[in-house]
Amino acid sequence: MMSRYTIILAAGQGTRMKSKLAKVLHPVCGRPMVDHVLTQVEQINPDKVVTIVGHGAGEVEAALGKRTEYVLQAEQKGSGDAVLRGEPVLGDLDGMTLVVSGDTPLLTAKTFEQLFEYHKEKGAKATVLTAVADDPTGYGRIIRNDLGVVEKIVEQKDASKEEAAINEINTGVYCFDNKTLFAALHEVGNDNAQGEYYLTDVIGILKQKGEIVSAFKMKDFEESMGVNTRGALANATRVMQRRINAEHMANGVTLIDPTTTRIDIGVKIGADTTIEAGVLLKGQTEIGEDCYVGSHSELRDAKIGADVTITSSTIEKSVMHAHSNIGPMSHLRPNSEIGEYVHIGNFCEVKNAQIGAYTKVGHLTYVGDATLGQHINVGCGVVFVNYDGLDKHHTDVGDWAFVGSNANVVAPVKVADHAFIAAGSTITADVDFHDMAIARARQVNKPNYWDKLPHEPEN
Ligand code: UD1
Ligand code: CA
Repeated sequence: MMSRYTIILAAGQGTRMKSKLAKVLHPVCGRPMVDHVLTQVEQINPDKVVTIVGHGAGEVEAALGKRTEYVLQAEQKGSGDAVLRGEPVLGDLDGMTLVVSGDTPLLTAKTFEQLFEYHKEKGAKATVLTAVADDPTGYGRIIRNDLGVVEKIVEQKDASKEEAAINEINTGVYCFDNKTLFAALHEVGNDNAQGEYYLTDVIGILKQKGEIVSAFKMKDFEESMGVNTRGALANATRVMQRRINAEHMANGVTLIDPTTTRIDIGVKIGADTTIEAGVLLKGQTEIGEDCYVGSHSELRDAKIGADVTITSSTIEKSVMHAHSNIGPMSHLRPNSEIGEYVHIGNFCEVKNAQIGAYTKVGHLTYVGDATLGQHINVGCGVVFVNYDGLDKHHTDVGDWAFVGSNANVVAPVKVADHAFIAAGSTITADVDFHDMAIARARQVNKPNYWDKLPHEPEN
């Protein structure tokens, strides 16, 4: 098979985004746009992938890591100049080169394959991927002759009125004979409205040399959408979200209102789980089968077992094992592990804590830096006091212990199995097996105290 290479253009600043972040790093459904592009490129197994970086080069390289080689385009002089920076890496090689922009996150490997096929079929030196847009504003226009053969590409800013009326657009994806590409790039000038070296000019240059140039028109304009503005970013996110949600539904997940459910790419959800409207599932979240996630829940990097119920709660970097439940209005902060059949009720916060199976933490409680055993009952309004102003300290509570309501358990402290803490206690010392700790002022009743107080007459 002929060697295949890919160049990803990712050096531009993206002025129209008005952002400190390099354009290609803006996320769509949880991943930078350029990561989506590279992920699809990887599926066509290129022999080499070169990413052209410039603005935010360090951040782009950090985001993509060793998955691609990098070449720096120090000054952004246009897409043609950007591709030419790849010459030291690719210039001497025989094969086909796919050029794709880092700001077209919806394109798929399937389309790239179709482009390669078409390119080979036509025996072309260059094939541009085109689409028909309802509103072609901003895109390069495909100029064909009377026979329908591609002549050149004209950028929006350089287009005559007639050319601007054409609605077949350049998607910014091309397949080239590699050596022909680099030879032609040396002939590209910058005498145009933007004073840039346009990659698009390569098409016209090759055509004039009598080379075979072709254009493959893809059916779905939406897939080719380029993101230059925040508006387009929102549109791309909507399309990607629709794709992701459709896949989950195809796998047996019920999304009550898929238009309001935000699921990052890569999130895993088991069959027969129901996700209510307005739920956010982010990062590396995994949810098992038969779960229920209620409205206004936000899960980030959460690992959720089977048959778990989550109502209006936030879970970050934490684990909930099978048959447990949480909410409404509770918060698992990072590094919490909730055992099987655990009940976390309303208005609870758990941070860096392990809670054993069957334990109940029902109401208005803070569990920070603690290890709780199994079958514990934690009453209402309990505080695991973990911070002394300088350091965090740890609390252990054994199996079958009982922590009465409104207790403060001041770390570091150990409460043994079957120990009992009376309501309202402030516990500062360890409690042994089967003991009860009571640490609060004794109640004093003053007889007939009422008589000593001044009163309004009671008519
Ligand atoms: C480009 C095409 C246009 C096409 C559109 C599709 C050119 C001249 N125009 O326009 O025909 O319809 O894409 O989305 O190519 N880049 C660099 N270095 C540079 C300039 C750009 O790496 O010096 C990168 C950008 O980061 C971006 C890509 O090239 O990923 C395209 O650049 P952009 O400025 O977005 O081009 P468009 O105006 O969208
Ligand atoms: Ca663009």
